[in-house]
Amino acid sequence: MSKHDAVEVIQAKRDGHGLSDSQIDWVVDAYTRGDVADEQMSALAMAILLRGMDRGEISRWTQAMIASGERMDFSGLSRPTADKHSTGGVGDKITLPLAPLVAACGVAVPQLSGRGLGHTGGTLDKLEAIPGWQADLSNSALLEQLEEIGAVICAAGAELAPADKKLYALRDVTGTVEAIPLIASSIMSKKIAEGTGALVLDVKVGTGAFMKSIEDARELAETMVALGNDAGVTTVALLTDMSTPLGRTAGNAIEVAESVDVLAGGGPADVVELTVALAREMLAAAGVTDVDPADKLADGSAMDTWKAMIRAQGGDPDAELPRAKEEHVVEAPTSGVLTRLDAMAVGMAAWRLGAGRARKEDPVQAGAGVVWHARPGDEVTAGEPLFTLLTDEPERFERALASLEDGYDISDAGSDFTPDPLVIDRIG
Ligand code: URA
Repeated sequence: MSKHDAVEVIQAKRDGHGLSDSQIDWVVDAYTRGDVADEQMSALAMAILLRGMDRGEISRWTQAMIASGERMDFSGLSRPTADKHSTGGVGDKITLPLAPLVAACGVAVPQLSGRGLGHTGGTLDKLEAIPGWQADLSNSALLEQLEEIGAVICAAGAELAPADKKLYALRDVTGTVEAIPLIASSIMSKKIAEGTGALVLDVKVGTGAFMKSIEDARELAETMVALGNDAGVTTVALLTDMSTPLGRTAGNAIEVAESVDVLAGGGPADVVELTVALAREMLAAAGVTDVDPADKLADGSAMDTWKAMIRAQGGDPDAELPRAKEEHVVEAPTSGVLTRLDAMAVGMAAWRLGAGRARKEDPVQAGAGVVWHARPGDEVTAGEPLFTLLTDEPERFERALASLEDGYDISDAGSDFTPDPLVIDRIG
Protein backbone atom coordinates (compact mmCIF):
# COMPACT_ATOMS: atom_id res chain seq x y z
CA MET A 1 0.00 0.00 0.00
CA SER A 2 1.35 3.44 -0.90
CA LYS A 3 1.32 6.27 1.62
CA HIS A 4 -1.25 8.33 -0.27
CA ASP A 5 -3.75 8.10 -3.06
CA ALA A 6 -4.46 10.57 -5.84
CA VAL A 7 -8.09 11.23 -4.89
CA GLU A 8 -7.10 12.19 -1.34
CA VAL A 9 -4.50 14.68 -2.66
CA ILE A 10 -6.93 16.16 -5.22
CA GLN A 11 -9.66 16.53 -2.58
CA ALA A 12 -7.28 18.24 -0.16
CA LYS A 13 -6.34 20.88 -2.73
CA ARG A 14 -9.89 21.16 -4.06
CA ASP A 15 -11.05 22.03 -0.53
CA GLY A 16 -8.35 24.67 -0.12
CA HIS A 17 -5.92 22.84 2.15
CA GLY A 18 -2.15 22.99 1.95
CA LEU A 19 -0.48 19.80 0.67
CA SER A 20 2.06 18.14 2.97
CA ASP A 21 5.65 17.49 1.85
CA SER A 22 4.88 13.81 1.77
CA GLN A 23 1.77 14.28 -0.39
CA ILE A 24 3.72 16.43 -2.85
CA ASP A 25 6.70 14.06 -3.07
CA TRP A 26 4.37 11.14 -3.57
CA VAL A 27 2.08 12.65 -6.22
CA VAL A 28 4.91 14.08 -8.39
CA ASP A 29 6.83 10.81 -8.26
CA ALA A 30 3.76 8.62 -8.85
CA TYR A 31 2.67 10.78 -11.80
CA THR A 32 6.12 10.59 -13.39
CA ARG A 33 6.07 6.79 -13.02
CA GLY A 34 2.55 6.53 -14.45
CA ASP A 35 0.86 5.46 -11.20
CA VAL A 36 -1.20 8.63 -11.08
CA ALA A 37 -3.27 8.96 -14.27
CA ASP A 38 -3.39 12.00 -16.55
CA GLU A 39 -7.00 12.70 -15.62
CA GLN A 40 -6.09 12.72 -11.93
CA MET A 41 -3.15 15.07 -12.46
CA SER A 42 -5.39 17.31 -14.62
CA ALA A 43 -7.87 17.60 -11.75
CA LEU A 44 -5.05 18.39 -9.33
CA ALA A 45 -3.55 21.00 -11.68
CA MET A 46 -6.96 22.68 -11.96
CA ALA A 47 -7.37 22.62 -8.17
CA ILE A 48 -3.91 24.23 -7.85
CA LEU A 49 -4.87 26.86 -10.46
CA LEU A 50 -8.05 27.72 -8.56
CA ARG A 51 -6.79 27.39 -4.97
CA GLY A 52 -3.12 28.32 -5.28
CA MET A 53 -0.15 27.07 -3.28
CA ASP A 54 1.88 28.74 -0.54
CA ARG A 55 5.63 29.31 -0.91
CA GLY A 56 6.45 26.17 1.07
CA GLU A 57 4.31 24.00 -1.19
CA ILE A 58 5.76 25.57 -4.35
CA SER A 59 9.29 25.00 -3.10
CA ARG A 60 8.60 21.34 -2.28
CA TRP A 61 6.82 20.81 -5.62
CA THR A 62 9.85 22.28 -7.41
CA GLN A 63 12.24 20.03 -5.47
CA ALA A 64 10.10 16.98 -6.30
CA MET A 65 10.22 17.85 -10.03
CA ILE A 66 14.01 18.29 -9.87
CA ALA A 67 14.30 14.90 -8.11
CA SER A 68 12.36 13.25 -10.97
CA GLY A 69 15.45 13.39 -13.22
CA GLU A 70 19.14 14.17 -13.45
CA ARG A 71 20.96 17.25 -12.15
CA MET A 72 23.78 18.64 -14.21
CA ASP A 73 26.96 19.99 -12.68
CA PHE A 74 29.09 22.72 -14.22
CA SER A 75 31.29 23.30 -11.19
CA GLY A 76 34.28 21.80 -13.00
CA LEU A 77 34.30 24.54 -15.67
CA SER A 78 37.05 27.15 -15.63
CA ARG A 79 34.53 30.04 -15.67
CA PRO A 80 31.32 30.86 -13.81
CA THR A 81 27.96 30.08 -15.41
CA ALA A 82 24.86 32.22 -15.88
CA ASP A 83 21.64 31.55 -17.74
CA LYS A 84 18.60 33.58 -18.73
CA HIS A 85 15.01 32.50 -18.96
CA SER A 86 12.20 34.46 -20.55
CA THR A 87 8.62 33.61 -19.70
CA GLY A 88 7.86 33.92 -23.40
CA GLY A 89 6.88 36.67 -25.78
CA VAL A 90 6.47 37.75 -29.38
CA GLY A 91 9.60 38.61 -31.35
CA ASP A 92 11.64 37.58 -28.30
CA LYS A 93 14.90 36.52 -29.95
CA ILE A 94 17.05 37.91 -27.13
CA THR A 95 18.65 34.55 -26.25
CA LEU A 96 20.33 34.44 -29.67
CA PRO A 97 22.54 37.53 -29.31
CA LEU A 98 22.64 37.31 -25.48
CA ALA A 99 24.28 33.88 -25.04
CA PRO A 100 27.34 34.61 -27.23
CA LEU A 101 27.57 38.17 -25.84
CA VAL A 102 27.77 37.00 -22.22
CA ALA A 103 30.21 34.23 -23.22
CA ALA A 104 32.41 36.86 -24.92
CA CYS A 105 32.48 38.67 -21.54
CA GLY A 106 33.89 35.59 -19.76
CA VAL A 107 30.81 33.90 -18.29
CA ALA A 108 29.67 30.53 -19.67
CA VAL A 109 26.02 30.28 -20.76
CA PRO A 110 24.32 26.86 -20.73
CA GLN A 111 21.00 27.61 -22.45
CA LEU A 112 18.87 24.48 -22.42
CA SER A 113 15.85 25.59 -24.41
CA GLY A 114 12.50 24.43 -25.69
CA ARG A 115 10.39 24.73 -28.78
CA GLY A 116 7.58 27.18 -29.26
CA LEU A 117 3.97 26.33 -28.66
CA GLY A 118 1.07 28.67 -29.43
CA HIS A 119 1.77 32.29 -30.32
CA THR A 120 5.22 32.53 -28.66
CA GLY A 121 8.24 31.40 -30.65
CA GLY A 122 10.77 28.79 -29.55
CA THR A 123 14.51 29.45 -29.50
CA LEU A 124 15.33 26.05 -31.00
CA ASP A 125 12.86 26.58 -33.88
CA LYS A 126 14.60 29.85 -34.68
CA LEU A 127 18.11 28.36 -34.67
CA GLU A 128 16.96 25.40 -36.75
CA ALA A 129 16.41 27.87 -39.60
CA ILE A 130 20.23 27.98 -39.91
CA PRO A 131 21.33 25.35 -42.43
CA GLY A 132 22.93 22.35 -40.68
CA TRP A 133 22.38 23.51 -37.08
CA GLN A 134 21.60 20.68 -34.61
CA ALA A 135 19.65 21.18 -31.38
CA ASP A 136 20.56 17.87 -29.72
CA LEU A 137 23.85 17.55 -27.85
CA SER A 138 25.11 14.86 -25.50
CA ASN A 139 25.98 16.02 -21.99
CA SER A 140 29.70 15.56 -22.72
CA ALA A 141 29.49 17.59 -25.96
CA LEU A 142 27.60 20.30 -24.07
CA LEU A 143 30.32 20.50 -21.39
CA GLU A 144 33.10 20.55 -23.98
CA GLN A 145 31.43 23.37 -25.95
CA LEU A 146 30.84 25.36 -22.75
CA GLU A 147 34.51 25.07 -21.82
CA GLU A 148 35.84 25.87 -25.28
CA ILE A 149 33.38 28.44 -26.67
CA GLY A 150 31.47 29.49 -23.56
CA ALA A 151 27.98 29.38 -25.03
CA VAL A 152 25.60 26.53 -25.82
CA ILE A 153 21.97 26.77 -26.89
CA CYS A 154 20.59 23.24 -27.17
CA ALA A 155 17.55 21.09 -26.45
CA ALA A 156 16.99 20.14 -22.83
CA GLY A 157 17.54 16.37 -22.62
CA ALA A 158 14.74 13.98 -21.67
CA GLU A 159 16.38 13.36 -18.29
CA LEU A 160 16.07 16.96 -17.11
CA ALA A 161 12.98 17.31 -14.89
CA PRO A 162 10.92 14.65 -16.72
CA ALA A 163 8.00 15.32 -14.34
CA ASP A 164 7.77 18.81 -15.81
CA LYS A 165 7.83 17.57 -19.41
CA LYS A 166 4.85 15.34 -18.71
CA LEU A 167 2.99 17.88 -16.63
CA TYR A 168 3.61 20.78 -19.02
CA ALA A 169 2.15 18.82 -21.95
CA LEU A 170 -0.89 17.99 -19.81
CA ARG A 171 -1.38 21.60 -18.64
CA ASP A 172 -1.18 22.74 -22.23
CA VAL A 173 -4.32 20.77 -23.15
CA THR A 174 -6.28 21.25 -19.90
CA GLY A 175 -6.36 25.05 -19.53
CA THR A 176 -3.97 24.98 -16.56
CA VAL A 177 -0.85 26.65 -17.97
CA GLU A 178 -1.57 30.00 -16.30
CA ALA A 179 -1.27 28.91 -12.64
CA ILE A 180 1.57 30.90 -11.03
CA PRO A 181 2.72 28.02 -8.73
CA LEU A 182 2.85 25.68 -11.74
CA ILE A 183 4.66 28.15 -14.02
CA ALA A 184 7.19 29.05 -11.31
CA SER A 185 7.94 25.43 -10.39
CA SER A 186 8.06 24.38 -14.07
CA ILE A 187 10.63 27.01 -15.02
CA MET A 188 12.71 26.81 -11.86
CA SER A 189 12.86 22.99 -11.69
CA LYS A 190 14.47 22.96 -15.15
CA LYS A 191 16.86 25.82 -14.43
CA ILE A 192 17.97 24.46 -11.04
CA ALA A 193 18.40 20.92 -12.46
CA GLU A 194 20.39 22.39 -15.36
CA GLY A 195 23.06 23.40 -12.84
CA THR A 196 23.59 27.08 -13.69
CA GLY A 197 25.30 29.13 -10.98
CA ALA A 198 23.33 32.31 -11.68
CA LEU A 199 20.00 32.99 -13.36
CA VAL A 200 18.35 36.09 -14.75
CA LEU A 201 14.63 35.89 -15.39
CA ASP A 202 12.94 38.05 -17.99
CA VAL A 203 9.34 38.06 -16.80
CA LYS A 204 7.12 39.42 -19.54
CA VAL A 205 3.99 41.42 -18.86
CA GLY A 206 1.35 42.56 -21.32
CA THR A 207 -1.02 41.31 -23.98
CA GLY A 208 1.55 39.01 -25.62
CA ALA A 209 2.66 37.40 -22.32
CA PHE A 210 1.21 34.73 -20.00
CA MET A 211 1.03 37.42 -17.33
CA LYS A 212 -1.30 40.18 -18.48
CA SER A 213 -1.10 42.30 -15.31
CA ILE A 214 1.88 43.79 -13.53
CA GLU A 215 0.67 42.36 -10.19
CA ASP A 216 0.67 38.78 -11.55
CA ALA A 217 4.05 39.28 -13.23
CA ARG A 218 5.51 40.60 -9.99
CA GLU A 219 4.14 37.67 -8.00
CA LEU A 220 5.56 35.19 -10.52
CA ALA A 221 8.94 36.97 -10.50
CA GLU A 222 9.12 37.11 -6.71
CA THR A 223 8.18 33.43 -6.42
CA MET A 224 10.85 32.36 -8.91
CA VAL A 225 13.56 34.60 -7.42
CA ALA A 226 12.89 33.07 -3.99
CA LEU A 227 12.92 29.51 -5.39
CA GLY A 228 16.25 30.11 -7.14
CA ASN A 229 18.01 31.78 -4.23
CA ASP A 230 16.74 29.10 -1.80
CA ALA A 231 18.29 26.46 -4.08
CA GLY A 232 21.67 28.26 -4.11
CA VAL A 233 21.29 29.81 -7.58
CA THR A 234 21.85 33.60 -7.54
CA THR A 235 18.59 34.74 -9.16
CA VAL A 236 17.25 38.13 -10.21
CA ALA A 237 14.32 39.11 -12.42
CA LEU A 238 13.52 41.98 -14.75
CA LEU A 239 9.87 42.71 -15.48
CA THR A 240 9.72 43.77 -19.12
CA ASP A 241 6.98 44.97 -21.42
CA MET A 242 5.33 42.49 -23.79
CA SER A 243 2.33 44.55 -24.90
CA THR A 244 4.42 45.53 -27.95
CA PRO A 245 6.43 42.80 -29.74
CA LEU A 246 10.22 43.04 -29.56
CA GLY A 247 12.24 44.35 -32.50
CA ARG A 248 10.78 44.32 -35.99
CA THR A 249 10.33 40.63 -36.77
CA ALA A 250 8.45 37.58 -35.47
CA GLY A 251 9.29 34.28 -37.17
CA ASN A 252 12.22 31.91 -37.32
CA ALA A 253 14.76 32.82 -40.03
CA ILE A 254 13.82 36.52 -39.86
CA GLU A 255 14.49 36.59 -36.10
CA VAL A 256 17.88 34.96 -36.66
CA ALA A 257 18.71 37.66 -39.22
CA GLU A 258 17.67 40.39 -36.77
CA SER A 259 19.83 38.82 -34.03
CA VAL A 260 22.82 38.75 -36.36
CA ASP A 261 22.23 42.48 -37.04
CA VAL A 262 22.45 43.10 -33.28
CA LEU A 263 25.68 41.06 -33.05
CA ALA A 264 27.05 43.14 -35.95
CA GLY A 265 26.51 46.30 -33.89
CA GLY A 266 23.17 47.34 -35.44
CA GLY A 267 19.62 45.99 -35.02
CA PRO A 268 16.50 47.51 -33.46
CA ALA A 269 17.15 49.74 -30.42
CA ASP A 270 14.79 47.81 -28.10
CA VAL A 271 16.45 44.46 -28.86
CA VAL A 272 19.89 45.98 -28.20
CA GLU A 273 18.64 47.63 -24.99
CA LEU A 274 17.19 44.43 -23.55
CA THR A 275 20.13 42.27 -24.66
CA VAL A 276 22.62 44.59 -22.95
CA ALA A 277 20.44 45.01 -19.82
CA LEU A 278 20.10 41.23 -19.39
CA ALA A 279 23.81 40.69 -20.13
CA ARG A 280 24.75 43.18 -17.39
CA GLU A 281 22.49 41.36 -14.93
CA MET A 282 23.93 37.96 -15.87
CA LEU A 283 27.51 39.16 -15.49
CA ALA A 284 26.77 40.81 -12.13
CA ALA A 285 24.97 37.69 -10.86
CA ALA A 286 28.01 35.62 -11.88
CA GLY A 287 30.35 38.03 -10.09
CA VAL A 288 31.89 39.66 -13.20
CA THR A 289 31.75 43.44 -12.91
CA ASP A 290 34.71 44.70 -14.92
CA VAL A 291 33.42 44.08 -18.47
CA ASP A 292 30.81 46.16 -20.31
CA PRO A 293 28.81 43.99 -22.70
CA ALA A 294 28.14 46.99 -24.98
CA ASP A 295 31.91 47.00 -25.76
CA LYS A 296 31.80 43.33 -26.78
CA LEU A 297 28.97 44.03 -29.22
CA ALA A 298 30.90 46.96 -30.67
CA ASP A 299 34.27 45.20 -31.03
CA GLY A 300 32.91 42.12 -32.83
CA SER A 301 33.85 39.57 -30.16
CA ALA A 302 30.21 38.62 -29.49
CA MET A 303 29.82 37.96 -33.24
CA ASP A 304 32.95 35.76 -33.24
CA THR A 305 31.51 33.72 -30.35
CA TRP A 306 28.15 33.42 -32.18
CA LYS A 307 29.84 32.02 -35.28
CA ALA A 308 31.89 29.56 -33.22
CA MET A 309 28.76 28.48 -31.32
CA ILE A 310 26.77 27.89 -34.52
CA ARG A 311 29.65 26.00 -36.19
CA ALA A 312 30.18 23.79 -33.13
CA GLN A 313 26.60 22.52 -33.57
CA GLY A 314 26.95 21.81 -37.29
CA GLY A 315 25.52 25.09 -38.58
CA ASP A 316 26.92 27.41 -41.21
CA PRO A 317 26.70 30.96 -39.79
CA ASP A 318 27.48 32.46 -43.20
CA ALA A 319 24.89 30.46 -45.19
CA GLU A 320 21.91 32.22 -46.68
CA LEU A 321 18.82 31.82 -44.49
CA PRO A 322 15.63 30.26 -45.89
CA ARG A 323 13.12 32.71 -47.35
CA ALA A 324 9.35 32.29 -47.55
CA LYS A 325 7.98 31.59 -51.02
CA GLU A 326 5.18 34.16 -50.78
CA GLU A 327 4.82 37.62 -49.30
CA HIS A 328 1.93 40.01 -48.76
CA VAL A 329 2.40 43.67 -47.88
CA VAL A 330 -0.12 45.52 -45.67
CA GLU A 331 -0.09 49.27 -46.28
CA ALA A 332 -0.83 51.89 -43.65
CA PRO A 333 -4.49 52.91 -44.15
CA THR A 334 -3.91 56.48 -42.87
CA SER A 335 -1.01 58.78 -42.06
CA GLY A 336 -0.08 59.60 -38.46
CA VAL A 337 1.82 58.16 -35.51
CA LEU A 338 1.64 54.47 -34.68
CA THR A 339 0.42 54.51 -31.08
CA ARG A 340 -0.20 50.78 -30.50
CA LEU A 341 1.16 47.56 -31.97
CA ASP A 342 -0.33 44.61 -30.15
CA ALA A 343 2.06 41.76 -29.34
CA MET A 344 -0.67 39.11 -29.25
CA ALA A 345 -2.06 40.15 -32.64
CA VAL A 346 1.40 39.99 -34.23
CA GLY A 347 2.20 36.69 -32.49
CA MET A 348 -1.05 35.14 -33.70
CA ALA A 349 -0.40 36.37 -37.26
CA ALA A 350 3.12 34.88 -37.30
CA TRP A 351 1.76 31.64 -35.89
CA ARG A 352 -1.03 31.48 -38.46
CA LEU A 353 1.50 32.07 -41.25
CA GLY A 354 3.31 28.89 -40.16
CA ALA A 355 6.10 30.20 -37.91
CA GLY A 356 4.67 28.33 -34.90
CA ARG A 357 2.87 25.10 -34.26
CA ALA A 358 -0.58 24.12 -32.98
CA ARG A 359 0.49 20.68 -31.69
CA LYS A 360 3.94 19.81 -30.49
CA GLU A 361 4.57 17.33 -33.30
CA ASP A 362 3.76 19.88 -36.05
CA PRO A 363 6.60 21.18 -38.27
CA VAL A 364 7.30 24.93 -38.47
CA GLN A 365 8.17 26.94 -41.58
CA ALA A 366 11.64 28.47 -41.35
CA GLY A 367 10.80 31.44 -43.57
CA ALA A 368 7.32 32.33 -42.27
CA GLY A 369 6.55 35.32 -40.08
CA VAL A 370 5.70 38.99 -39.81
CA VAL A 371 7.92 42.03 -40.34
CA TRP A 372 6.55 45.33 -39.01
CA HIS A 373 7.96 48.45 -40.58
CA ALA A 374 7.06 50.83 -37.74
CA ARG A 375 7.11 50.67 -33.94
CA PRO A 376 4.93 52.68 -31.53
CA GLY A 377 6.06 56.30 -31.70
CA ASP A 378 7.04 56.12 -35.40
CA GLU A 379 5.37 58.21 -38.08
CA VAL A 380 3.61 56.24 -40.80
CA THR A 381 2.35 57.41 -44.19
CA ALA A 382 -0.86 56.21 -45.86
CA GLY A 383 -0.04 53.71 -48.62
CA GLU A 384 3.46 52.91 -47.28
CA PRO A 385 4.19 49.33 -46.07
CA LEU A 386 3.19 48.72 -42.44
CA PHE A 387 3.59 44.93 -42.30
CA THR A 388 5.10 42.29 -44.58
CA LEU A 389 3.60 38.83 -44.11
CA LEU A 390 5.70 35.83 -45.12
CA THR A 391 4.69 32.21 -45.69
CA ASP A 392 5.19 29.27 -48.05
CA GLU A 393 1.40 28.72 -48.17
CA PRO A 394 -0.57 31.75 -49.48
CA GLU A 395 -3.87 30.32 -48.22
CA ARG A 396 -2.59 31.29 -44.74
CA PHE A 397 -2.64 35.05 -45.48
CA GLU A 398 -6.35 35.53 -44.86
CA ARG A 399 -6.40 34.36 -41.24
CA ALA A 400 -3.13 36.13 -40.48
CA LEU A 401 -4.58 39.38 -41.85
CA ALA A 402 -7.65 38.90 -39.67
CA SER A 403 -5.52 38.71 -36.53
CA LEU A 404 -3.69 41.94 -37.42
CA GLU A 405 -6.86 43.88 -38.20
CA ASP A 406 -7.43 45.27 -34.68
CA GLY A 407 -3.80 44.92 -33.71
CA TYR A 408 -2.66 48.51 -34.16
CA ASP A 409 -3.74 52.15 -33.85
CA ILE A 410 -2.60 55.11 -35.90
CA SER A 411 -3.37 58.52 -34.43
CA ASP A 412 -3.09 61.80 -36.27
CA ALA A 413 -3.05 63.66 -32.97
CA GLY A 414 -0.35 61.48 -31.50
CA SER A 415 2.70 63.69 -31.88
CA ASP A 416 3.27 63.90 -28.11
CA PHE A 417 2.96 60.11 -27.76
CA THR A 418 5.76 58.43 -25.78
CA PRO A 419 6.11 54.63 -25.81
CA ASP A 420 6.08 52.78 -22.45
CA PRO A 421 9.49 51.83 -21.01
CA LEU A 422 10.76 48.38 -21.91
CA VAL A 423 12.26 47.47 -18.54
CA ILE A 424 9.51 48.04 -15.96
CA ASP A 425 11.12 46.82 -12.74
CA ARG A 426 13.87 44.68 -11.23
CA ILE A 427 13.33 42.09 -8.53
CA GLY A 428 16.18 40.47 -6.65
N1 URA B 1 7.53 28.07 -19.50
C1 URA B 1 7.79 26.93 -18.84
O1 URA B 1 8.86 26.35 -18.96
N2 URA B 1 6.85 26.43 -18.03
C2 URA B 1 5.67 27.04 -17.85
O2 URA B 1 4.88 26.56 -17.10
C3 URA B 1 5.40 28.23 -18.55
C4 URA B 1 6.37 28.73 -19.38
